[in-house]
Amino acid sequence: MKKFLPLLILSLICLSVFGQKKSSPALRADMLIRQMTLDEKIGQLNQYTSDRNATGKITADGDKANQVRQGKVGSMLNVVGAEETRKLQELAMQSRLKIPMIFGLDVIHGFRTTFPVPLAETATWDVALMEKSARIAATEAAAYGIHWTFAPMVDVARDPRWGRVMEGAGEDTYLGSLVAKARVNGFQGNGLGNTDAVMACAKHFAAYGAAVGGRDYNSVDMSLRQLNETYLPPFKAAAEANVATFMNSFNDINGIPATANKYIQRDLLKNQWNYKGFVVSDWGSIGEMVAHGYAKNGYEAAMKAIIAGSDMDMESRCYRDHLKQLVLDKKVDISIINDAVKRILIKKFELGLFEDPYRFCNIEREKQQTDNVANREVAREIGKKSIVLLKNEKLSNGKTLLPLSKQTKRVALIGPLFKATTANHGFWSVAFPDDTARIVSQYQGIKNQLDKNSEILYSKGCNINDTDTSGFEAAIATAKAADVVILSLGEAADMSGEAKSRSSLQLPGVQEELMKEIYKTGKPIVLLLNTGRPLIFNWAADNIPAILYTWWLGTEAGNSIADVVFGDYNPAGKLPMSFPRTEGQIPIYYNHYSTGRPAKDENDKNYVSAYIDLQNSPRFPFGYGLSYTKFNISNLKLSANELAINGGKLTVTVDVENAGDYDGEEVVQLYVRDLFGCVVRPVKELKGFKKLFLKKGETQSVSFTLTATDLKFYNDEVKLINEAGDYELFVGNSSDAHLKTKCKLTL
Ligand code: NOJ
Repeated sequence: MKKFLPLLILSLICLSVFGQKKSSPALRADMLIRQMTLDEKIGQLNQYTSDRNATGKITADGDKANQVRQGKVGSMLNVVGAEETRKLQELAMQSRLKIPMIFGLDVIHGFRTTFPVPLAETATWDVALMEKSARIAATEAAAYGIHWTFAPMVDVARDPRWGRVMEGAGEDTYLGSLVAKARVNGFQGNGLGNTDAVMACAKHFAAYGAAVGGRDYNSVDMSLRQLNETYLPPFKAAAEANVATFMNSFNDINGIPATANKYIQRDLLKNQWNYKGFVVSDWGSIGEMVAHGYAKNGYEAAMKAIIAGSDMDMESRCYRDHLKQLVLDKKVDISIINDAVKRILIKKFELGLFEDPYRFCNIEREKQQTDNVANREVAREIGKKSIVLLKNEKLSNGKTLLPLSKQTKRVALIGPLFKATTANHGFWSVAFPDDTARIVSQYQGIKNQLDKNSEILYSKGCNINDTDTSGFEAAIATAKAADVVILSLGEAADMSGEAKSRSSLQLPGVQEELMKEIYKTGKPIVLLLNTGRPLIFNWAADNIPAILYTWWLGTEAGNSIADVVFGDYNPAGKLPMSFPRTEGQIPIYYNHYSTGRPAKDENDKNYVSAYIDLQNSPRFPFGYGLSYTKFNISNLKLSANELAINGGKLTVTVDVENAGDYDGEEVVQLYVRDLFGCVVRPVKELKGFKKLFLKKGETQSVSFTLTATDLKFYNDEVKLINEAGDYELFVGNSSDAHLKTKCKLTL
């Protein structure tokens, strides 16, 4: 036997080396881990930034290149381009075990082609389109050496003061979950390993959107029931869609920073949900636990974060500096380190980086994706579909102002956003911040479509956010000389986004004053509102006859806007958040609980849950958006009055009629209300929607299938249950749906 032992060992080694390519990423990761020193393992858990696009303090440690060469860096962010990523990857390939790095970037709403900001895209209520834009973003980014996007942000957000509402899908859990899945599918395409697929990242785990007061990075305090019912389902949907990674969040949840929150990351995500991907910290969030007062120093912060399940340290260096000592001190078991390393290595194997670490660094592919015309067409399509028509009142001639005729003789374009470029990108277009030449300005977009014999008059009027009114006079004169004025107002690109919380949601600077001055000219006005969040604009909503919410639409903004203004496309966008009347109503969301003293109507103030100085309702409700045509929804019918808890199905049907003068799309929405429960239930919850196209005069019937699973909710023990009882069902074209019927959920 002794004679054969070396032979046996040799054949085992051969088997393992040659068999390696065929075995699973998990087995290959295990084998590699066996060869790794503790230092090399810890190296895999570190993520460093390059010196561009910092969203926090960059740790200055000068010798990044050397650390990469020594295998001390598992991933880098903010490195862009086939050439740049190749250079750094070459350094990583000089390390002893030649473990490639992963390159990550915030590809949030496009890369070379910028799409509408995610909140705007959600207003399309078209998940297939959102998947498509993520697909394109992934293809473009992957051609520039990127393996991983820190998107989608799936935080439910009910507070428009929070600047990051622009990055998510708004206030609704159901819609947010569908969007989360679509975006993950889009980014990851046909699966990791394809060179047009990037790893997606569900962030920010968890409840980051519920920061007290809407102030970014602030604390979150909420019941576990609320967390599970409202904030976690989009993350669950992302996990079920096989999202490759999660990112934790800056906030504390009920006193424990998310980064060190073991319940959330290890117990729930990794154990209960059986999630196999890895968790990256947010930028410096491990080190920030010292400022939180939750860790005395970096040593303790690293210990708490790794034990809780944060696998990779983005930029804080706490893992680099302390994990080894923590293992030697027996404060952190090596099995925890091994688990984190394994999760990361598996992704590297799945990405195919061990076969070819440079497979994403391809100059030819990069060139092809630099200015892809077909992608721009998609951006234009999503842009126009993101626009929400908030108001289109009949004028004294009995006609609405919109759509505008392309033959209108003199059109005045007034406002600081018409010739703006970057503002159309909005926040989080980090890859090419200075590449503004490709953006179609709103001025250009209108010009492209207006009849040759018509004339554009232009005046900036004022800046976005200062007190200078010196341009008013010229703007008033411009308006007076025109037949119609289009006013383009809103926020600058850096007014909604990370760390961009606002306490006032009014139009910034003197823009509202400008609007009032232009209004005095008596000219008909179309208002475009460009922003990343719900703004408050009551005066405009009361006085301006036509308002389009145009958000930040990206590269093709001008063309998308012109498509809608001139009616080549009939707008069908629906608000993904409730729009408040004043900041004092915030947080305001349609699916609030029923109180013991609900107000009967808007005037009822008598010891009921109401404001003495304001209505309860929002200025514009969730799900709201008009069309140039008119849709009637009627004839609500159920296939039965009862739905059995075990396997029952109910079909809800309505007729939708296009009773107006234009062909168009409508989003028909189904809401339910659980009338009595073992815990208090929301007054309405979205449970389904369908977007359909109807020719003018056409009627279609639309049906939804409801099962008992759709009616499940979390009880006070945080268990997901069904409860027999009475439900109301509402169908309409916003959350203000009144057409209703009842059904029973039976045992
Ligand atoms: C901080 C942000 O919160 C996060 O969303 C982003 O991905 C990282 N910075 C990296 O830029």
